[in-house]
Amino acid sequence: MAEQKDVLILAIESSCDETAASVVRNGREVLSNIISSQIDLHTLYGGVVPEIASRKHMEQVNQVTEEALKTAGVTINDITAIAVTYGPGLVGALLVGVSFAKSLAFAAGKPLVGVHHIEGHISANYIENLDLEPPFTCLVVSGGHTNLVLVEDYGAYKIIGRTRDDAAGEAFDKVARAVGLGYPGGPKIDKLAKEGNKNAIDFPRAKVEGSPYDFSFSGIKSAVLNYINHCEMKNIEINRADLVASFQNAVVDALVSRAVMAAKEHGLKKLALAGGVAANSALKAALEEECARNGIKFYHPSPIFCTDNAAMIGVAGYYEYMAGVRSGWDLNAVPNLKLGD
Ligand code: KG4
Ligand code: ZN
Repeated sequence: MAEQKDVLILAIESSCDETAASVVRNGREVLSNIISSQIDLHTLYGGVVPEIASRKHMEQVNQVTEEALKTAGVTINDITAIAVTYGPGLVGALLVGVSFAKSLAFAAGKPLVGVHHIEGHISANYIENLDLEPPFTCLVVSGGHTNLVLVEDYGAYKIIGRTRDDAAGEAFDKVARAVGLGYPGGPKIDKLAKEGNKNAIDFPRAKVEGSPYDFSFSGIKSAVLNYINHCEMKNIEINRADLVASFQNAVVDALVSRAVMAAKEHGLKKLALAGGVAANSALKAALEEECARNGIKFYHPSPIFCTDNAAMIGVAGYYEYMAGVRSGWDLNAVPNLKLGD
């Protein structure tokens, strides 16, 4: 039998505020994972400024890609195919990665594979969990998305729950700003909440009538803002640690209850967590506990593979490539790309 050749995917990600490139071998082995974060730059403005993000991606994409190849110990000639995030995300930011990947693939004579950013987040779970294979339930929680997804097969996704308003990460970022913690709020709330009492304040857990798997976080966010206003008006000193711990607890409760219910009701014994908010320690601990109680195996990526990175795009790109997916030279950035499109 002929020896099977390794499939090496060079992946590029530039959908938001991280310029990233990675080389992934045979879908599961990350040979390099280079991330150039713009967080410091955007912190000055309290959030991501799209125009600045695009310009910074332009400055970084070439050297980040070179570094990814160098760290992996390969050259562009060794690469089997080039994968790139083409949506969803900021259009100008996405366009930098897409144009770069198209030019490189064309010049080097390599196939091009467009990858959905959320498919990337979900696929991050495959990197460190070699036993994980579909079908499973995945809770995707990022700065722009909150989805409950049935991963029926590689590349086959069914969204059964979504947020009706803010994404979970967005709620973290807005509440952090309101209590003066700055951007990005998720990691800062995660840290401060460890010093607080999560049962100090009872914030609402909104249910969406008729849609048991859907989420709504604007009510919790407004309740936090009202609480802060109320305390300021009455000159009551706010215990920030208790406040953020209670907020986080309300969000975690809403996420965990629906995710575990989805896994149980669909008879799936595996539940994975994905997206930037998957780095949250309280969320991971609560899911771990609830899953164990219900005989469900819980999977999550390491924090470095939770927030935006290109390794996850390389993994998703590998499975798409193996399924025969090829993008044309007309591949475009699609800012509101839906999963399954
Ligand atoms: O997936 P990601 O890097 O970018 C998007 O695709 O949106 O997610 C970024 C989001 C931000 O809202 C950030 O505050 C949140 O993930 N995040 C966290 C934590 N680390 C990052 N939220 C809660 N706890 C964390 N430890
Ligand atoms: Zn993301």
